[in-house]
Amino acid sequence: MRAHPAGPAHGDLINPAAPNLPPEDLNGLHPSVWPATAERSDGVLSIGGLDVRDLVRDFGSPLYLLDEADLRARARALREAFAGAEVYYAGKAFLSVGFARWVASEGFGLDVCSGGELAIALRAGFPVDRIAMHGNNKSERELTRAVEAGVGTIVLDSYAEIVRLADIAAKADIRQRVMVRTTVGVEAHTHEFIATAHEDQKFGFSFSSGAAAEAVRRVLKLPSLELVGLHSHIGSQIFDTAGFEVAAKRVVQLLADIREEHDVELAELDLGGGLGVAYTAEDDPAQLHRFAADLRTIVAYECGRHGLKMPKIVVEPGRALVGPAGITLYEVGTVKPVQLDAGAVRHFVSVDGGMSDNIRTALYDAAYTCALASRGSDAEPMLARVVGKHCESGDIVVKDAWLPADVQPGDLLAIAGTGAYCRSMASNYNQVPRPPVVSVGSGQAKVLLRRETEDDLLRLDAG
Ligand code: LLP
Repeated sequence: MRAHPAGPAHGDLINPAAPNLPPEDLNGLHPSVWPATAERSDGVLSIGGLDVRDLVRDFGSPLYLLDEADLRARARALREAFAGAEVYYAGKAFLSVGFARWVASEGFGLDVCSGGELAIALRAGFPVDRIAMHGNNKSERELTRAVEAGVGTIVLDSYAEIVRLADIAAKADIRQRVMVRTTVGVEAHTHEFIATAHEDQKFGFSFSSGAAAEAVRRVLKLPSLELVGLHSHIGSQIFDTAGFEVAAKRVVQLLADIREEHDVELAELDLGGGLGVAYTAEDDPAQLHRFAADLRTIVAYECGRHGLKMPKIVVEPGRALVGPAGITLYEVGTVKPVQLDAGAVRHFVSVDGGMSDNIRTALYDAAYTCALASRGSDAEPMLARVVGKHCESGDIVVKDAWLPADVQPGDLLAIAGTGAYCRSMASNYNQVPRPPVVSVGSGQAKVLLRRETEDDLLRLDAG
């Protein structure tokens, strides 16, 4: 938390229980939170060289923006940090046909976890051999589609699926590359990682109960399946490699056990996704290069201990590629001061979207950074709660946001870090059409996903 020399200016306007002090400069843009090309000119925010007021005029509000330069820089950083490893972008973070093409052109693979994500990848012409398919309950139809399309790797998640996939592959006369997903007893989220009660979850085969070893046994007996490696995903929004260290230790132990029992050395080790990003200035995720180097060192050390050849490492970042490159723009509709106990006032700033375009605050109590985007302001900082337009009091976009006290209807607000898991988790709650996703770069804007309309909503209605 940062110290603020003056402290909040007007006591009756703020909630005394404020978790943070206001930033020193409300017009500042913290570089770890905002996309690379975000800047202010005369107080007005621009991204990719485009004034946010013009973007909202052209594409409406709310509006998701993706900063192309930021994305390219992140892609390059991932490639460099994980040189020698394979990087599969996790499409669940955000996916569209155009985005999938861009991901392919950057040399990444793609992790899909549903028939819908696969359909988008196929429509994009994504190189199928660089697609990996996940999921704890892939349907017969999804598996058949994946096998017939030639999906590079299918990550097995249950005994039933082993049999199901082996049959499908045999019928298609294909030897399908597969991995076995192991649950290694680590569940890591941000700073903490918990090594207890971890295996009580729906994904993968447990390492400690012997289920993972049994899954490997069964797969190796099936000629239509080619076991290429093990997979482990320990969580998301992880800030350091401590959890991965425990995971790598166990998964490499399993590689050693497999060699011992079957005389087979598996060539690939997929350590999943989970690299954390900064949503607020207080967040301090590990530097990518450091993170990647630590992972490599851990795996190399563990393999060395067991005399195993270093496997090819695969990682599946989603958020780390697309999260910080995205922002959401909203228009303020109302500002409502609400008297709280102890004389404090909470200012509810209502915007024209909410939990339908960003469920993360309601679902995970996620924190975001918010800024007045359509003008600068010298007004005093005011602790506001940015809320949506939905019929639900939990419809909060930013729980505690420092905004200038003169924020008013018609102003545009920008929320940083919304590139991942916002559009992809968006809903039509209250029959609110979902906002478009527009990528911006070098003064040009390109629609990746257009805005939904009421006609789109009614199209599915059988009447
Ligand atoms: N690989 C697997 C097998 C996964 O399950 C996930 C995420 C990833 C990769 C990508 O993780 P990332 O690098 O993006 O952290 N909806 C939540 C995140 C759920 C992540 C689920 N799996 C959120 O909004 O924070």
